Parts: sequence; C-alpha cells; structure tokens
Amino acid sequence: MLGICYYPEHWPEEMWAQDVTEMRELGLEYVRIAEFAWSKMEPRDGEYDFTWLDRAIDTIASAGLKVIMCTPTATPPKWLIDKFPDILPVDINTGTTRGFGSRRHYDFSSENYFNEAMRITEVLAKRYGEHPAIVGWQTDNEIACHDTTHSGSENAKLAFQKWCANYYDDIDTLNKAWGTIFWSMEYQDFSQIELPILAVTETHPSHNLAYRRFSSDQVIRFHDEMIRIIRANAPDRFVTHNFIPMVDTQTDNYALAKNLDFVAYDNYPLGRTDMFFKDMPAEEFKPYMRTGHPDFSSYSFDQTRGVSKNNFWIMEQQPGPVNWGYHNPRPEDGMVRLWSWQAFAHGAEVVCYFRWRQAPFAQEQMHAGVKRNDNSKSQAWFEIERVRDELAKAHIDTAAPVKSKVAIVTGTINQWVTEIERQGDSYNHQQVEFAYYTALRQLGLSVDFISTDCDFSRYDLLVAPCLPIVDQAFIDKCKHSKAHLVFGPRSGGKTSELTLAPELPPGLIQQLIPIKIHSTETIRPDCSETLNFNDGEYESKLWREEIVLPETVITAASYHDGKPAVARFENTSYISTLSCEGFLIAYFESLAAELDLNIMKLPKDVRIVDRGDVAFVFNYGHVEQHFKAPSNANFVVGGETLAPYDVAIYKK
Ligand code: GAL
Repeated sequence: MLGICYYPEHWPEEMWAQDVTEMRELGLEYVRIAEFAWSKMEPRDGEYDFTWLDRAIDTIASAGLKVIMCTPTATPPKWLIDKFPDILPVDINTGTTRGFGSRRHYDFSSENYFNEAMRITEVLAKRYGEHPAIVGWQTDNEIACHDTTHSGSENAKLAFQKWCANYYDDIDTLNKAWGTIFWSMEYQDFSQIELPILAVTETHPSHNLAYRRFSSDQVIRFHDEMIRIIRANAPDRFVTHNFIPMVDTQTDNYALAKNLDFVAYDNYPLGRTDMFFKDMPAEEFKPYMRTGHPDFSSYSFDQTRGVSKNNFWIMEQQPGPVNWGYHNPRPEDGMVRLWSWQAFAHGAEVVCYFRWRQAPFAQEQMHAGVKRNDNSKSQAWFEIERVRDELAKAHIDTAAPVKSKVAIVTGTINQWVTEIERQGDSYNHQQVEFAYYTALRQLGLSVDFISTDCDFSRYDLLVAPCLPIVDQAFIDKCKHSKAHLVFGPRSGGKTSELTLAPELPPGLIQQLIPIKIHSTETIRPDCSETLNFNDGEYESKLWREEIVLPETVITAASYHDGKPAVARFENTSYISTLSCEGFLIAYFESLAAELDLNIMKLPKDVRIVDRGDVAFVFNYGHVEQHFKAPSNANFVVGGETLAPYDVAIYKK
C-alpha cells in the first residue's frame, strides 16, 4: 500500500541497486518514474535513448517492486520548443509568451504539441505497454497546474472560434444567449470572436464562461487521446492521473477523470494550508502551521474520492518541508505518519511519497525527500517505517468504502461563475465550501462530494454551498430525494449562459422552496453583522440576500434587523448569507437531530472517520487528547488516549 516517486535519471547508476533494496526494506511496493524525463528519452528530434530506462526498470523489478510509468509530456524539451515555438502558451493577463525554463510550458490548443505529445506517448506505450514490471500508467503530471488550462494564444483563439461555432450553431444564437447587444458587442461571424482577455475593463461574463468551458474541453481532449493511446498498447494496466486540488484547477476534474481507472491526488498539506489560509489571523493559523488544518487534507481526499470512480491513490505525499509555499515550515514529527493514515482512512488504496531523495540541484533542491541528498535518512523514513509496521498489523481492507450519509454537491462550473462574477472581492468559492465542510467534520460526520448528476438516494443530508447554475434534471432529483437539502447564497441565480434567472434567484430552486431573492449585497470582511438562530447570536458576513417569502416558509434565522436570513420549507433550507463556523455547526447540529444523523462531539482538533468497519481517529492537536470509543471497539493501532499528532484505529 506504499510507494515512492523516483528519478533514476537524477542519480549515478551505481546508486540504483542500493536505492531499490532500501525501498523494499522500507515496505514500498510501487515506484513511479519518468514523468519529466523526455530530454533523456529523446535527446534530439527522433533520436531515442531508452537503454537507461530499460536498466532502471530492470533494477526496480529486480527488487520485486512494481513500476508506474508516466508520459513525460509535462516537460517538452528545448529542441522541441525550438522546432515548434507555438507550443508555448500565452499568459492571459499580459498577453506575453510563457517561456521555456520550468515546466508545463505548453498550450493545449497547439496542434503541433498535441501531435508531438501523442507521438512520444505512443512510442513509450508501444515500447513498455506489456512490460511485466509495469503495472500502471500515469498521464502527464498535474495537468492543469501552474495556471495552464488557459492560454491567450492565436491557436487558442482560432480553436475557441471553432468551439463556439460548434456549441452555438449559428452566430445569432450566440448573440442572443450571451446578450451581446450590451455595449455593442454583437458579432456577425464566429471568426470575429476574440478571447475574453486583455480588454479595457471587465469582459462579458457569458463570453468568459464559454471560454472556460472551451479551455477545459481542450485539456480533456488532450488527456483523453493520451489515455486512448496508452490503453491501446498497455493491456490490463491501470491508467491514472495525479490531480491537484479542485481549488487550483480551471479544468473540470469530473470530466478529466471520466476515462481513468481511478484518480490519484498529490497531497501537500503544509504548502497548501499556507496558501489556502493566507488571510487567516495568525493566532488561528499558527497552531496548524506545522500540521496543516485538520480538515484541509481530508477536504481534498473526500473531493478526490468523489471524482474517482473507486477509491483513490495518493501519488505524491509531502515528506518534509516543500519549497513552493509562501512559507515552508517543517512538519511536526509524526505528521507524515498521520497524513498517510488520514489518506487511507478517507479512501486511499496506496500512498506514494514524493520523493525518494532530495535533489541536490535545480528548482526543488529545498524540497525534502525521504532521504537527504547525502543519502542519509530524513524524519519521513522513520515515520514510513512505522506506517509499514502498522499496516501489517491493521490489515485494512482497501476495497472498503467510506460510509457517508452526508454529501456536498459541487461542480467546477460553479466555481467559474463566482470567479467570473466577483460581485464582492471576499467571496471565494473554495473558502465558502470549506466552511460548510469543516462544520460537518467537526460534528464527526463523514462527507462525500458529489456532482449534480450523481445518485442522491443514499444520503440523508445534501449540502450545496454554492450552485448558481442548476438544471431541471437536478431539481427533479431533489424533489424525489429523501434528503434534507441545504442551499447556500447565490444558488440557482444564473442560467447556464451566466445570465440572470428570469424568475429571480434562486431560479429553479423555487420549485423546492418558494422564495425570491429581491436584492443581493456584498459587505467588507471587517463589517460583519449579527445573525440570530435559536437562542444564539452568530455572524453574517460578506454576502447578504434579501429573501421574500410567503407565510408557508419558515424564517429559521434572521439578520440583525429582523429580516429573514435562513428560510426553511419542508425538507429544503436556503441560507442567504455567509456566516461563521459556529452558526454552521449549530445549524447542522439541529438538522442532524431531526434527521437522526449520528454526530460526535470530539475534542478540538480531533477527527474521526469510518471506512468499512474500521474507525480512524486523528489528533491534530499539540496536546494529548482523549475520546470515548464504543464498547465493541477493538484497537489495532493506539487507544482512547492520543498523544499529539497521534492516530488510533479500531475495528467494530
Ligand atoms: C507537485 C509536482 C511534483 C513536485 C512537487 C513538489 O505538485 O507534481 O513534480 O514538483 O509538487 O512539492
């Protein structure tokens, strides 16, 4: 269940044999290789050298380890860029070319790159497709990372025009759908359409949404073709991709995952905590500086599980300080073990660490490895040893599902809408969604993430923190669902072309709760107001909607001026503001009581999750903590007292 990311091309061949022996000793089973090695596989146009790779694979196999082979397309070599300069993408904020010298320097709309990427994929897949040591393939690497979904190139423009012609059929349909009469933006022909970038002031939201749909489709087209080539040449091998979090991607992850066997995720809790919580006050942030926020990794794990068809893998796990956060603290001792177990608890089948040995050169020389660059063992080594021993004792069934009666309904398009139409600077889709997620997790509830077209039947509580665009099929499913539905502000307010819902927000959701939003305001983060719910006083902040409701609808919470803030009708709630953690916890607690959902009041920074008949408990806190396990608990790791950063696992 453990693996490693390895770069044989970075090290003298004399070291390989000892490396793989030690990998084996550490309990590793999978070795991922080659995702950035194009210049070594094909040093010059058409001149291949795979002899070193053959030897590397043989060495790995000789230790009984299994190989995951990657396509090297995240790093087109210099000679290829010189041959086809149009491979380079264009920055949409400046209009300048993003140059060679790092990675991911390619444009999804460059046909030259498409052809070259598929060529090297085919060469590799033909050569290694049936190699007995290779059990699976990884496509590219973090395909939309470094803001590479969008390009402002001429190629992108021409491809976008074609995409629009295909999507809208005729230009009048497009003019009407977008509302181009506004500011004299009408088109007579698809060939007149520019990319919605570099204009004087904000560009048309519908145009922007179309561009985002198009850009995401370009990534999917590229990725799907790569999968097709691998599958054609590598029978009975899995194909996966290492995803970055939803929060960083401009590509529709659900679409990206569709043709894969399962999804893999790259888990960097500290770097990402540093970035995601950059506006968190220091006194709240500091306790998590070296652990990551207790719900942040699991937020990504649960999203990944939703995007994957099955359970998922961690393809890269942070082993120590990274180099790319705004700041890069060292994990507390014990956290590499905790993160590994947390991934297993939330549905991972395998956890691979990034990377074997710290690179002595180049961009990531300050990024830790399991071994240091002098080949000594870093802290991660000893924690992985512990995970290895505990795995052997615990016998976790990796096919077991995470059990959840609660789901967050989500989708990339909703994030795009909130980014295109800011309305208030402080609205951040992921922060909004995370606030709901952490409230649910603090009540000990396991959470699934599902898209609007998933099956709802197994859930008792469905939470949609932000769904501006919904369709009738989704509403029909909600009507037939037994679950209580909670919608956050903005829900249902837009048509699929990002124009206003003709019946006023929440649009089609009015079929579930007969309310109308008469106006929307956004508020500075330092000007929050009170929100009253039951006997408690909470915060209303950043976003406020004016709800108009008939007598049949209950006001479940109200603003400081007595106006309705949360409306409730039968099994639907509509929350028209953003609020504090305390309110969301209180609201979900009251719903859980109604719905008979089992909540658990755990000590601060302690989290629990069930997978199959196994419960996993984590202490993110800096002090020892205690919890009460059920009487039938049979502990396989730890017990009811958790040391700082400790893990307990029991079977029921
Ligand atoms: C990942 C990436 C790796 C490496 C790592 C460093 O996002 O896939 O190649 O750069 O970050 O933390």
